[in-house]
Amino acid sequence: MKICMIGSGYVGLVSGACFSDLGNTVTCVDIKKDIIEKLNKGIIPIYEPGLQELVLRNLKKKRLLFSTDISSSIRKSDIIFVCVGTPTKNNKTDLKYVINVIKTIKSNLNRYKIIVTKSTVPVTTGDKIAKILKSNKNKNKFDVVSNPEFLREGEAIRDFQFPDRVVVGTNSNKANKIMKKLYLPLIKKGGRYFHTSRRSAELIKYASNAFLATKITFINEIANLCEKINIDVKEIAIGMGLDERIGSRFLRAGPGYGGSCFPKDTRALVSTGRIFNTNLSVVKSVVNSNDNRFNLLLNKISKIMNNKIKNKNITFLGVTFKPGTDDMRESSSLKLIPALSRKGAYINYYEPTGQKKEFKSKNINFFENIRDACKYADLIIIHTEWNEFKQLNFKKITKKKNFKVFDMRNLYSTSEMKKNKINYFSIGR
Ligand code: UDX
Repeated sequence: MKICMIGSGYVGLVSGACFSDLGNTVTCVDIKKDIIEKLNKGIIPIYEPGLQELVLRNLKKKRLLFSTDISSSIRKSDIIFVCVGTPTKNNKTDLKYVINVIKTIKSNLNRYKIIVTKSTVPVTTGDKIAKILKSNKNKNKFDVVSNPEFLREGEAIRDFQFPDRVVVGTNSNKANKIMKKLYLPLIKKGGRYFHTSRRSAELIKYASNAFLATKITFINEIANLCEKINIDVKEIAIGMGLDERIGSRFLRAGPGYGGSCFPKDTRALVSTGRIFNTNLSVVKSVVNSNDNRFNLLLNKISKIMNNKIKNKNITFLGVTFKPGTDDMRESSSLKLIPALSRKGAYINYYEPTGQKKEFKSKNINFFENIRDACKYADLIIIHTEWNEFKQLNFKKITKKKNFKVFDMRNLYSTSEMKKNKINYFSIGR
């Protein structure tokens, strides 16, 4: 099929490349000329493992094209995926980029097309889009479908190629048949195709992300309790996860959830509740609990350092919101590092994906390797669970004798650390 992805970011580029790998002809469009020029040379503007090889393979086969010409790309395609950003503004989802794209689509409906919202959009956005597209000239020339993505950064290609489910929301049988044909190769590999109404598909996305955020926040609060009872939250997570109704995934206690989705989607869902006069009290408390986790962590660090932060060397290993990505959006380091720096600490950090523009300040120094970053550390904080942080010989990487380790991802065993006489702190243990 001929597909057009409008927006070549985390969602549009990954999904477009994967659709082309299934044999479709895909044109990824973006208004940013420099991004399109780089992509045409096979240079990938985002950090996503495996993406460069996937793009190059399909570029070579001329199944994957990149263009800034949105009109001609729409006209030659049968299915148009809207993958532009839906940022939050005053706690509401800003749909201006989506609406701009829809207006361009409207003037290029040269034949029947399916317009698919893949970006996360508030419930009833599909209705609004259909209203904008509707005109005497355009009758029966389009269907608007919701097909939310469930891609995790760092695992996006695998999540696309082996989905637990493909959710397609439409009331049009014609559109549903075409979407089912498009996803057939994935369904054959075991992915479940779930056809529902458009509004349900839109809400499934928010409800899924909010539930995952709730699961993480739940185990983080249980971790707070475990610290007081002096038991290990990992044991609780294992015991809980053995119940199939709960499941073991997304029960890893840590510094709180970050990224471009959970924080945005939980807040958007709360505002959807407000619009429809429904009090989503659980999601509200998840947002508050996760926002407050920063204060708990800061107090914990002060306690670990016996309230002596000033002039201390604190090293962060990893600063992105999770491993496998260079994405800093809503990462807990964005609040922790400036707060510690304001308390007079000297911050060093090593980040596998390189220096971050967010930390360009005199008291915050980036190092190209773990050893240099930790050499004079009084406190080593493992912030992001990259594999290269999982087997460190702490006594070898720092010269300080009475250094401490705060492992925010519980990568190490407390008994091992005790045996090696490492002054080790972690989460919920
Ligand atoms: C998420 C959803 O998983 C994905 O389905 C959706 O399409 C986009 O949002 P992503 O934000 O890329 O994906 O990352 P994810 O792996 O879900 O982690 C989100 C945050 O939760 C990260 O900050 C991570 O560190 C944290 N997390 C995750 C935990 O603290 N504990 C866990 O057990 C899992």
